[in-house]
Amino acid sequence: MSNSVKRRIDELRTKIRKLNYHYYVLSESLVSDYEYDKLYSELQKLEQENPELITPDSPTQRVGSDLTSEFPPFKHSVPMLSLANTYNEDELYDFDRKVRENLPDGEKVEYITELKIDGVSISLIYRDGKFYKAATRGDGFTGEEVTNNVKTIKAVPLKVNSVDSSKVDLEEFEVRGEIYMELEAFNKLNEERARKNEKLFANPRNSTAGTLKLQDPRIVAQRPLSIFVYYLLMKEASIISQYESLILLRELGFKVNPNFRLNGNINEVLEYCREWESKRDNLPYEIDGVVIKVNSFAQQKILGNIAKSPRWAVAFKFKAKQATTLLKKITWQVGRTGALTPVAELEPVLLAGSTISRATLHNIDEIKRKDLREGDTVVIEKGGDVIPKVVSVVLGKRKPGSKEVEIPKNCPVCNSVLYRPENEVAIYCQNVNCPAQIKSRLQHFVGRGAMDIEGLGEALIEQLVDLGYLKSFDDIYNLKNYYNELIVIEGLGKKSIDNILEAIEKSKNQPLERLLFALGIRYVGAGAAQKLAAHFKSMENLINASEEEIESIYDIGSSISKSIISYFANRQNLEILNKLKSAGLNFERSKEVISGGEFNNKSFVLTGTLSSMSREEAKNIIISKGGRFVSSVSKKTDYVVVGDNPGSKFKKAKEFGVKLLSEKEFLQLINIEM
Ligand code: IVH
Repeated sequence: MSNSVKRRIDELRTKIRKLNYHYYVLSESLVSDYEYDKLYSELQKLEQENPELITPDSPTQRVGSDLTSEFPPFKHSVPMLSLANTYNEDELYDFDRKVRENLPDGEKVEYITELKIDGVSISLIYRDGKFYKAATRGDGFTGEEVTNNVKTIKAVPLKVNSVDSSKVDLEEFEVRGEIYMELEAFNKLNEERARKNEKLFANPRNSTAGTLKLQDPRIVAQRPLSIFVYYLLMKEASIISQYESLILLRELGFKVNPNFRLNGNINEVLEYCREWESKRDNLPYEIDGVVIKVNSFAQQKILGNIAKSPRWAVAFKFKAKQATTLLKKITWQVGRTGALTPVAELEPVLLAGSTISRATLHNIDEIKRKDLREGDTVVIEKGGDVIPKVVSVVLGKRKPGSKEVEIPKNCPVCNSVLYRPENEVAIYCQNVNCPAQIKSRLQHFVGRGAMDIEGLGEALIEQLVDLGYLKSFDDIYNLKNYYNELIVIEGLGKKSIDNILEAIEKSKNQPLERLLFALGIRYVGAGAAQKLAAHFKSMENLINASEEEIESIYDIGSSISKSIISYFANRQNLEILNKLKSAGLNFERSKEVISGGEFNNKSFVLTGTLSSMSREEAKNIIISKGGRFVSSVSKKTDYVVVGDNPGSKFKKAKEFGVKLLSEKEFLQLINIEM
């Protein structure tokens, strides 16, 4: 191997590193895409010809071909603390007072304020100036090692810039920061997922967390993640303040959010908080507050930490984002049981980075309570969910002559006469053949806690119902007879149809309790389905059971038993069931679950949010496997599933020594791949 090749490789790496740094960290391009690609290809080619010269910090090595990662536990050398929250001026003044009380009399305190990036915190370990490992926060003490995934993020330098060696000991140091996704990229990703019938991410933070836990770094590399770092941890510190450490991080080539500021007193801090609360929408990424830190490390040391958070820092949390817009119309959506849910159709308005044109209103009582009327100007708010809510009416802007909302008399979809049972807030469409009911029944049937048919999502069901391929559950198992027709449906194609048909076949093996739940019999949730299957052991026995026998089961009340009796009294339902039986679905309880299901009465508590499924879905899955879903932790709890931002239940679980499951471990336990 010639020395000149080695020299050229080094030269190319240095050039590309510099270009990457300018592009991903400083957001400026020094050359055209074409020129960049040329340099990159040349390096790739030379490395292919001389594999012995490939080093892990080469720009080409961000995604290796075989980097499928398992996420081993990673113990943090210094715990990753979280912050106490403040929500108003008074709490902020309190923080300042406590800081000054705990420092020697008369000492001057400077605060550094930084934007609180709404992402996922990460720890990066460097050895000899090169990226070595990355780990998530986890419970603060032990996280998960996600090195290969983080390596794909171009704003994470694989090799740091050389700086004055008296400032930093490059041998081993740690950098902490927040991985995030820009709003535009997030919206694009969700649009793509919607097209592919995949579950949408609720917000950029969830989508970042979900991405970091993907098993295939090649997919991670395609997701537009970035990072802001805010913390440098070194054995021998030459720097004496947070301000200096941010500057040094920048010199080393890390992406530091440029909006930090040094403040001489708490009033300036407050001014910064207010300023950014009003400017937050101008940023291309989400922030949920401001982080306030005592600038001097010496003072930080004196102040120390309490339990989970430092005394020298605090978060100022912004209020939920609100917007006002016109409530154009209230429409009614028909659900699986025929219940109508009012939906606010809004004049599209930009809120928290996405355009909002609809919001759920829950039920007619909510409309009455808030006195919402068509034509009103309303305040809407977005919390952690995709679906925004209507908070209130701006009465001052109400137009004269506006009328109270009328309760509809006919179904908006099939026009049949609606029914409102006594003592219920809901109104029902009673036509089981109403297309809207068909669609939502099918959606429930294929859902995760039910038959779990991947790929058969909301939009596709809608399409297949409209095209006439799907009317009832048994039609799902006949779809394979329409292969040639299906593959030409726009946006589908052979591969996705093959996958869907395979998932449909696989779903035939779902146990009886899943099927019972999937049928969507009113009041029969995942828990009741479990108990019914355990008691009756077969569909046949349940069909032939009397109301009394059903009601005799512990925890099964009369509304459930009545509902079951009336379900099986319906000839159409029995015909569908017969067809499902012929298709080969499980009508008997299999032997291994007769003991009480896979989870065998084990109790589960969920704390925090999961990025892969909703709380309701997790609950259904646990119950469908024979587990119990409980709301509070005790010594007897078997498992606590720990999601993002876990609450006090997590602390309790640790105190009691209850077995903790990360989201990934939970998914493994229930056999779901993310
Ligand atoms: S400092 C002890 N600075 O907010 C210092 N955190 O609960 C703790 N975050 O876990 C973190 N932007 O994930 C810090 N500029 C910033 C931040 C920031 C976002 C996150 C971080 C942390 C959480 C606080």
